[in-house]
Amino acid sequence: PAAVIVAIDGPSGTGKSSTSRAVAAKLGLSYLDTGAQYRAITWWMITNEIDTEDPAAIATAAAKPVIVSGTDPNAPTITVDGLDASGPIRTQEVTAKVSAVSAVPEVRALVTQLQRDTAAAAPAGIVVEGRDIGTTVLPDADLKVFLTASPEARAARRSGELKGVDVASTREALLKRDAADSGRKTSPLAKAADAVEVDTTELTLDQVIECVVTLIEEKR
Ligand code: C5P
Repeated sequence: PAAVIVAIDGPSGTGKSSTSRAVAAKLGLSYLDTGAQYRAITWWMITNEIDTEDPAAIATAAAKPVIVSGTDPNAPTITVDGLDASGPIRTQEVTAKVSAVSAVPEVRALVTQLQRDTAAAAPAGIVVEGRDIGTTVLPDADLKVFLTASPEARAARRSGELKGVDVASTREALLKRDAADSGRKTSPLAKAADAVEVDTTELTLDQVIECVVTLIEEKR
């Protein structure tokens, strides 16, 4: 069959990463975590002491880091200038600053191009997860899914991942990041008109995976 392109968007804590990886692994597709790319650029900005509140400084520096994503869904990797960034991009500092960095149009233009190149090179097709994949990065995707969940469910999932962080402060940080991501000018977090919305609040991860696999099979 022809390569299949799947876009999975939605706010934080809806299960995008777990779902996307499992679906890609099941169907033999590549996998790309676009949030990790924005996090990697943010980590580089912090490390190189670029003021993440200064869009002009970010725009000037945006092309400097070399971001490379490994697209095996069973072992995704991300490097910045050849260094493994998979640990450092998950810190609370990066999480708190990534929305400001990802809102800068120069950053988005560079990362979007990387994402399109990666999708075009995937031999069997790819599952790409993010915020603007269906609307901006891959508007011709074969399937677009928009995952949602109640803020309570999302905060509970995230604080389960971040051991020792309480649900209330996780919820607050998550809603703040979503508001920034939805409110920015350049390709905000949004559901594409032709995306299938899946509310994961009452679903197990396995049920969400099954649902997306079925949607892909219907398109093939
Ligand atoms: O998915 P994750 O939470 O790792 O994404 C981190 C951040 O990267 C988001 O909060 C958002 O600011 C940015 N992002 C984006 N566009 C994407 C994916 C992520 O702006 N396609």
